Amino acid sequence: MLVANDKGLLAMDESNPTCNKRFAALGIPQTLEFRRAWRELIVTTPELGESISGAILYDETIRQHQQDGTSFIQTITDAGIIPGIKVDTGAKDMAGHPGEKITEGLDRLRERLNEYFEMGARFAKWRAVIAIGPGIPSHACIEANAQALARYAALCQGAGLVPVVEPEVLMEGDHTLERCSAVTEEVLHTVFNHLYTQRVLLEGMILKPNMVLPGLSCPVQASAAEVADATVHSLLKTVPAAVPGIAFLSGGQSAELASERLNAMNLRFKSRQPWALAFSFARAIQQPAMEIWQGKEANVLAAQHALIHRARCNRAARRGDYHAAMEGY
Ligand code: 13P
Repeated sequence: MLVANDKGLLAMDESNPTCNKRFAALGIPQTLEFRRAWRELIVTTPELGESISGAILYDETIRQHQQDGTSFIQTITDAGIIPGIKVDTGAKDMAGHPGEKITEGLDRLRERLNEYFEMGARFAKWRAVIAIGPGIPSHACIEANAQALARYAALCQGAGLVPVVEPEVLMEGDHTLERCSAVTEEVLHTVFNHLYTQRVLLEGMILKPNMVLPGLSCPVQASAAEVADATVHSLLKTVPAAVPGIAFLSGGQSAELASERLNAMNLRFKSRQPWALAFSFARAIQQPAMEIWQGKEANVLAAQHALIHRARCNRAARRGDYHAAMEGY
């Protein structure tokens, strides 16, 4: 369901600090009401359900309502979109491992998952963060994060929620495409090893990985075709065919590049990939719309237009039908 009909996921689950950071960069007030208004703008975007199968919410958002009193979860469900929930409590500094993070949130997770299920959520997300740099990632960081992802995924399946398993290898740094491939493969091997150990049903999960990219400050950047080849080759080596869907994070790529690269993967590997290659973008769907909105009621319609445009571009990219001309250049 989450990856059917060429649709994808919309990650609108930024924690309050992350959402506030995005608002601050655009001069939007960092308040509860502005966060609520932004999420109302998203969920009330007409025809969103034609391109988006599931929306990942944050704890604050899943409890919120529109100005007219309708709950967000009701609006999303009425639009034919499956509600999901971010359940990790954030990536924290890892003890004894400078520059590395470990994601927290396993304490009381069973009870929280049951509560979210009662509220209407049908899938969940947990993000692990792996940085590349001199001497990192360490084996300890990859192992600890992979084990937490697997324990989270097993608990989700026990509670009737589909786990979205997100091990994100970050783009920051000057590493090469090849180094990103090697790290991504090691991370995915470790994650699937732990998923197997924890008896997670691979048929009932979604993998949310990074695309394989050169670091942001690497002097040699890669074409969409090179990124597509490196990414799919790494995934073919590490992700069992039983996994129904892979939904990429955008990780700070521009909206257009994320669509172009997803398109290249689907175009070049159409008949050779065992899983659906979909999207679960936050910034690459929301950022252009947020820049138009600027926190102003008068800009809501134009922002919704930009949001639905990105959702449609990414749906086209799932079919290998995305073209730069769609951007109006
Ligand atoms: P980006 O697409 O902005 O990387 O966000 C995806 C996400 O859900 C991160 O957890």
